[in-house]
Amino acid sequence: MITRRAALASGLALAACTARSQPVPPIRALKDAAPFPIGFTVQAEFLQDPAYAALLAQQGSQVTPEWQMKMEYIVRDDGTFRFDAPDAIATFARAHGLRLFGHTLVWYAERPKAFETLDESRISFRDAYANYITAVVGRYKGQAVGWDVVNEAVSEDGRGRRESLWSQKLGDLEHIRLAYEQAHAVDPAPTLFLNDYYLELMPQKRATFLRLAEAILKTGAPLQGLGTQTHVNADLRPGAIKEAMRDLASLGLPIHLSEMDVSTARARGLTTDGWEGRQAALYEEAAEAFMTLPPRQRFAFTFWGLRDSDSWLRKETAGDRPLLFDAAGRPKTAAAAFEAAVGKARL
Ligand code: XIL
Repeated sequence: MITRRAALASGLALAACTARSQPVPPIRALKDAAPFPIGFTVQAEFLQDPAYAALLAQQGSQVTPEWQMKMEYIVRDDGTFRFDAPDAIATFARAHGLRLFGHTLVWYAERPKAFETLDESRISFRDAYANYITAVVGRYKGQAVGWDVVNEAVSEDGRGRRESLWSQKLGDLEHIRLAYEQAHAVDPAPTLFLNDYYLELMPQKRATFLRLAEAILKTGAPLQGLGTQTHVNADLRPGAIKEAMRDLASLGLPIHLSEMDVSTARARGLTTDGWEGRQAALYEEAAEAFMTLPPRQRFAFTFWGLRDSDSWLRKETAGDRPLLFDAAGRPKTAAAAFEAAVGKARL
């Protein structure tokens, strides 16, 4: 027997659910609305879906391979390389006039077996490292407009630099300097970025990130841009994104807002139908923050996925709705807020 309370609760939940999924009126394509490149992260398999491909080409002007241009995909256990998936993404980008952004050459989170078990009597670790960078950057030479050369080099607590296989084998700063030098030597055209996350949530981590950028610049390495991933939760303090953008812009380098999503599932203290407004407000704040940058510092604004159903966050919580478009590809309130914020700030 269903109690009156349960019936009421289920009715409210249903109401909240339909209220939550109310589509918004049509918006201009984001790449037309924004005076800067609009990026989306992609996986090669997604491009086989005609509806996905059409929405991506309609809304975006840049793509970032989500994981298939990383060591975990490219480097086989025997040390050979495979490029079928990143090549498919590069081919799609070229065919649709989309910029290609390379992500990522050196990341603490990836230490392929071929590097861990390298026979250093045959080749030095340094040469194997440089050869990898040469092979990947060289393959997309003339197409890639930028690279996350080093990703997430600041420690988890935001106080220092992260240890990695790369820092252990080649040196704390030296492995970083070498990566930028090698990438630039292979292809001087793309903008070379240092990328990290929680720079909005953790002011201390942001300060450490900026100190690291200055230390890298002091080595003479061609660090040319700063990437702030902007993976945030819907309960992030209003103003945190704007404060972070102001600090990050202080070095005068191009900024890539590189991986934005606004998790509703990870947000605490929000009712189920409370997240949509907060999520839209955070996307609006990010758009306004990016618009306050001088045009030469607005490299690109990238969302870490196109539709909610494409999000990496779904692996953690099936019901997370972190992006601008719903699973059916319809713009959400957040998309309308982003588009309006860009348009408003331009008048
Ligand atoms: C994530 C991808 O989204 C996942 O598909 C993959 O399994 C792991 O990596 N910061 C980054 C990205 O710089 O490379 C990460 O991407 C998300 C966090």
